[in-house]
Amino acid sequence: DAGHELIARPPVVTVMGHVDHGKTSLLDHIRRTKVAAGEAGGITQHVGAYHVETPKGVVTFLDTPGHAAFTSMRARGAQVTDIVVLVVASDDGVMPQTVEAIKHARAAEVPIVVAITKMDKPEADPERIRNELSQHNVLPEEWGGDTLFVHVSARTGEGIDQLLDTILLQADMLELKATREGLAAGVVVESSMEKGRGAVATVLIKRGTLKPGDPIIAGQEFGRVRAMFDENGQAISEAGPSLPVVVLGLSGAPKAGDDLLAVESERKAREVALYRQGKYRDTKLAKQGPAKLEDMLSQMGDGKAATVQIVIKADVQGSAEALHDALTDLGTDEVAVKVVGSGVGGITESDVTLAQASGARIIGFNVRADSTARNMIKESGIDVRYYSIIYEAIDDVKQVLSGMLA
Ligand code: GTP
Ligand code: NA
Ligand code: MG
Repeated sequence: DAGHELIARPPVVTVMGHVDHGKTSLLDHIRRTKVAAGEAGGITQHVGAYHVETPKGVVTFLDTPGHAAFTSMRARGAQVTDIVVLVVASDDGVMPQTVEAIKHARAAEVPIVVAITKMDKPEADPERIRNELSQHNVLPEEWGGDTLFVHVSARTGEGIDQLLDTILLQADMLELKATREGLAAGVVVESSMEKGRGAVATVLIKRGTLKPGDPIIAGQEFGRVRAMFDENGQAISEAGPSLPVVVLGLSGAPKAGDDLLAVESERKAREVALYRQGKYRDTKLAKQGPAKLEDMLSQMGDGKAATVQIVIKADVQGSAEALHDALTDLGTDEVAVKVVGSGVGGITESDVTLAQASGARIIGFNVRADSTARNMIKESGIDVRYYSIIYEAIDDVKQVLSGMLA
């Protein structure tokens, strides 16, 4: 972003914790709406994104589900966030997804603010929560640590102003900056296909400003911003850094975690999307050669010095997800590990194309490449490795990372 002025941006805060510990209720109170009451079974199934304007500054919140099944959503949440608010119910204690949330925050190297909630309950025992958290090295200042703790209740509103102040204080220390100028880059936090509206993507803007009419790419989808809304459904005419925005106009629903990038022309957006879909041969961009394309794709990095891109193919979804989570967790401040594609089944032509387009290596877990893919692999020199033991794959990628730092 040479020449673009960096200015302070709001913090992006992901709320994590064990199932039913009160994450959504806390956000409801902050937003003064009633989201948790309207959820199926009171269980959050997706990542909700909201921003609030306080007298002291703006904060963007991402809500995550606490249910054990949603590990990858929490991992993703931790990666797009500046601060994790760890919600622990004062009447329950540190539970498996509390511990997992700590792990995700550590892996993403983001500070934790602990919100001990349900303080209105007679059985509330915040001292016990502090003790249990200390066993996981989450220590308050008075115990020699550096984690900020706040006592809250979504029922009475106790401590909520203090929680917002604490988040803004922690954010100040991080000196968060981004440019508002130039074409927008962001990340998809959720998406769906809706009748009458087409693809609906909730995007967190990281830098630049997104506007209606902008040509965009998101994962393998492309289009033009047809309309933009804030989280309350109000049409908006621009969205800058750290703001969540609902975008209409993509050719299909991108995957959560996909990067979104505004580009100069819809033609370019279309070509990159087709290239990523494996239908790239006839595009102009393909004729200009891979260097041009990689130039374009490298703009989509997340600001780390280097990124190891990986395509995962596995025999079953569970293994693909386990590999995805474990490999992504290997990322550090210097080197990010980014899974650009993941799926079930043998390695095909389109996997190799995706790997070529993004400069990725391919990991095959209990699968083989079909004959077309094998020929392409031979011609392209793409790095493809086959495994049947997850830890061996993890160890190899670790080696690649340390090699990049050497
Ligand atoms: P998942 O998204 O399913 O992981 O749950 P969550 O962490 O978002 O919890 P949720 O907000 O759905 O709240 C779970 C239950 O705890 C609901 O019955 C809430 O009414 C209750 N609850 C949440 N916060 C408080 C609080 O501060 N005090 C009391 N007494 N109950 C609370
Ligand atoms: Na719940
Ligand atoms: Mg919830």
